[in-house]
Amino acid sequence: MRLITTLEDLRQTRDGWSRQGRTIGLLPTMGYLHAGHLSHARTARAENDIVVASVFVNPTQFGPNEDLARYPRDLPRDTALLADAGVDAIFAPTADAMYPAGFATWVEPAGPLTERLEAARRPGHFRGVATVVAKLLLLVGPTRAYFGQKDAQQVAVVRRLIADLNLPVELRVGPTIREPDGLAMSSRNVYLTGDARPAATALYRALTAGRAAFDAAPSSADAVREAMRSVIAAEPLATLDYADVCDPATCAPLITSEAPALLALAARIGSTRLIDNFLLRADGSWDIGQFTDARHAE
Ligand code: PAF
Repeated sequence: MRLITTLEDLRQTRDGWSRQGRTIGLLPTMGYLHAGHLSHARTARAENDIVVASVFVNPTQFGPNEDLARYPRDLPRDTALLADAGVDAIFAPTADAMYPAGFATWVEPAGPLTERLEAARRPGHFRGVATVVAKLLLLVGPTRAYFGQKDAQQVAVVRRLIADLNLPVELRVGPTIREPDGLAMSSRNVYLTGDARPAATALYRALTAGRAAFDAAPSSADAVREAMRSVIAAEPLATLDYADVCDPATCAPLITSEAPALLALAARIGSTRLIDNFLLRADGSWDIGQFTDARHAE
């Protein structure tokens, strides 16, 4: 596997692949990989001639009071995991290469998608995400790009970005991968120590309650929101940020509970902010993710 750290090396390597007519799958990550990333990497491996994973903790998507400085980083560990998943190359640029002196051009998503949920709590977050994703897509020129359903609003923003900028790439969305007790895999789970770890299952339990309310009361999205809120309220270490039912493509709130729908949740467990979601597809089937322990899978 190749470790590529400069834009020049990436361009030359990418041009070689293009000349050979190879299809390229890109998995953008911020590193400190977990089973969710590796599941997407294996899908990319099966669907493309070449698989590139980017490992870049993108400073522009973190707010001033967020965890940029302490975000977990371990490139040797990521390299070993990606090699094992059959990835061909890691692109791990420096922040100076991605944001050269005088950097002034942003990709700024607008509209309802960037007014609610994560966008409302993390001003500027999706500007940073859209900008770095656009740069990665332009630099790598992939045939397909792989994102995780766990970041459902990010998926919607990237889908919009690809359509609006006419980028010739296919968006592929991989499932949320869960611990056996339901906790969604996230690089930030490393912050969950002591009692916070079992308490963090409150998000999965709340979504499960929301889904039950959805199936029981198909006319009231508020009943679904309330079912999720009450589970979080009952967990002493949890503080609710939002519990919402919305359109998966626009994140606009739903009034009646009807498919397609995204049950979206954000909460703090102690000082760690976590997000999670269940998706009700247009055909009426639920996507709640996949468990690492098959005994819990639906
Ligand atoms: O989901 C992430 O890890 C990041 O938001 C991404 C897509 C790699 C952009 O920095």
